[in-house]
Amino acid sequence: MTLKAVVFDAYGTLYDIQSVADVTEDAFPGYGEIITQVWRIKQLEYSWLRSLMRRYQDFSVVTRESLAYTLRVLGLNYEKDVFESIIDKYLHLDLYPDAPAALAALKPRRLAILSNGSPEMLNALVRNSGLDRVLDATISVDANKIFKPSPEAYTLIEQELGTPPDQVLFISSNPWDACGAKAFGLNVAWIERVTPEAMALACVESDLVPPLTMFKALRTQMDELGLEPDYRIRSLSELPDIVASL
Ligand code: LAC
Repeated sequence: MTLKAVVFDAYGTLYDIQSVADVTEDAFPGYGEIITQVWRIKQLEYSWLRSLMRRYQDFSVVTRESLAYTLRVLGLNYEKDVFESIIDKYLHLDLYPDAPAALAALKPRRLAILSNGSPEMLNALVRNSGLDRVLDATISVDANKIFKPSPEAYTLIEQELGTPPDQVLFISSNPWDACGAKAFGLNVAWIERVTPEAMALACVESDLVPPLTMFKALRTQMDELGLEPDYRIRSLSELPDIVASL
């Protein structure tokens, strides 16, 4: 293989999304951890749902809507500036400590990001972290208005860099992204940021959020996708009246 370019996922791979936890904890003491986790899970879910529904909105919208969802379902009231200060952290995420040296060592190959982030979010993040001095390109899926792991997202690498998939190594910590990139035909390195051993240990040692609360927060409350059902009912027994009124 002639390797011409190394392309990175951004969130979770070069940038530590868990670094929002300090800000969420400051804003809502005791809730920092659950906000961080529900937010990220919903953020990704919304990107996929919007892609499937063909209702694309860029990742800054998805990121805001998933945070709004998270705070709502956890019953947290907030002022606009608190919301904005949490969102702002997405433009100042911490780089993983291993990122700068690894990028420097990979030169002179072409280095790029391919991310679901919107161009504004990514450009600000890359500039704020100093990676603008190292990267040759920051590619946002926004150009094709569909999120990874759609093939139409990965195809942007060749479109932007002119490098065919078999000459690109793509790096992601997100398993769904590594699989999507592989399915597309890229060479893929999955960075296992949480090892199976650390995972098993966390299960034994951690003060786990009760799993049922997590499930309820993720799967039982109405989503922030800009859509409202026509009726909200709390029991099937309400149906006959609704049907009769139609
Ligand atoms: C990225 C996210 C979704 O594309 O991890 O950067």
